[in-house]
Amino acid sequence: MKIYLALISAAALTLSACSQESAAPTASAPTAPAASDAAPAAVSSADTACQTVIEAGDDMKYNKTEINISKSCKEYTITLKHMGTMPKAAMGHDLVIAKSEDVDGVAKDGATAGAENDFIKAGDERIIANTKLIGGGEEATIKVDTGKFSAGNKYEFFCTFPGHLAMMRGTVNLVD
Ligand code: CO
Repeated sequence: MKIYLALISAAALTLSACSQESAAPTASAPTAPAASDAAPAAVSSADTACQTVIEAGDDMKYNKTEINISKSCKEYTITLKHMGTMPKAAMGHDLVIAKSEDVDGVAKDGATAGAENDFIKAGDERIIANTKLIGGGEEATIKVDTGKFSAGNKYEFFCTFPGHLAMMRGTVNLVD
């Protein structure tokens, strides 16, 4: 058995020696990191248009100031990624969507609800959609029912962590 293995090894060595000049080394090349487990294997163009990723960090900012949702999307997927390292208790972020005139009230009532409720008032009907509160290195995904938006209203997305509203606020636009 040992001899047999040795022969195979020798053959393999010979093969690799032969192919060394012509072929690039591939045997030990690391494979590319797999796409996110959550991502579907094939994404149609419609799906791509009906989703976005928003990043936030320890600098208390979203990396986008607007979310443009196509009116053709029945459902719109938003993934919030916390790119920082600070814990949820110190630099928590969520992404809440509400009518512009409701933003201040939702944030104020969220602050009152406290950390144990992730700064969201239970059963707040002014909220169109919200992610959970996350800390550094975490992410959260929500599906927004676009049927909840109505023409003539202005909508915004924002963070309800106390003190973050002034820095973390953007517009949600329904576009053709
Ligand atoms: Co925040």
